[in-house]
Amino acid sequence: MRAIQDSLTAWAEGARRDLPWRRTRDPWAVLVSELMLQQTQVARVVPRYEEFLARFPTPAATASAPVAEVVRAWAGLGYNRRAVNLHRAAGEIVRRHGGVLPATLTDLVALPGVGAYTARAVLAFAFEADVGVVEVNSARVLARAVAGRPLAAREAQVMADALVPDGGGWAWNQAMLDLGATVCTKSAPGCLACPLRACCAWAATGASGADPATGSAGCGAAQSTFAGSDRQGRGRLVDALRLGPVPRSALAEAAGWPADPERAGRVARGLVADGLAVMVEDTLHLPG
Ligand code: ADE
Repeated sequence: MRAIQDSLTAWAEGARRDLPWRRTRDPWAVLVSELMLQQTQVARVVPRYEEFLARFPTPAATASAPVAEVVRAWAGLGYNRRAVNLHRAAGEIVRRHGGVLPATLTDLVALPGVGAYTARAVLAFAFEADVGVVEVNSARVLARAVAGRPLAAREAQVMADALVPDGGGWAWNQAMLDLGATVCTKSAPGCLACPLRACCAWAATGASGADPATGSAGCGAAQSTFAGSDRQGRGRLVDALRLGPVPRSALAEAAGWPADPERAGRVARGLVADGLAVMVEDTLHLPG
């Protein structure tokens, strides 16, 4: 464990990616970045993150805006439900915490759309707490380099927490994410260039057997195909709503399924159920 800590820490000093959310400790900014990063690639998040924070710099500014504006500012990021949840979370932060993000796991996970991962990321990256952040990249490093076998969720979290060097929660977790994102990648790990090569549990076996990350907690299941999915039609409908209301008769066209109004209607009802849209007089709108 000590060898892993020392090797990764030494590597990270020269290899840390300079990303905008790493230049702040503002918990609101960190929360926004983590929600954006949850399903969207770093390169797509960078420009949207700064624009979003310029418009919604605090929970209070966000809570007092109509949810439609937050959804508009989320354009290009996908999984638009995250924008609705962020608006709801901002309201809770204002009502229950005086407009300031709470600094405990219990209070953070009580916020809408904030799960155990996001809460720990805020603790580590805003409050510099010594907690392990288990997301798709760090979970892969844990399974491969530390355990050398697939992990259950609880095991992965316990292992991640135990690995954090005392007082080093911020830098350590960023390093785990960086190693997973740039070296210990999913399908083409760069073992020859890896700083953990000498102490990696998987490398010790010759890295020839089954990948320990396959089926390990947090490493992510295979993504289902986007093209032709309900999610694609959902995204098209929200994109149309960002420009203006869509009458019921135009839903199928806007969803990209001109011959399937039934499917478009079902997806539209899903948007309403998720708080992403309202149906007023046979016309779908973003919520006020
Ligand atoms: N993905 C999730 N959190 C991240 C972070 N802080 N830096 C880079 N990628 C991330």
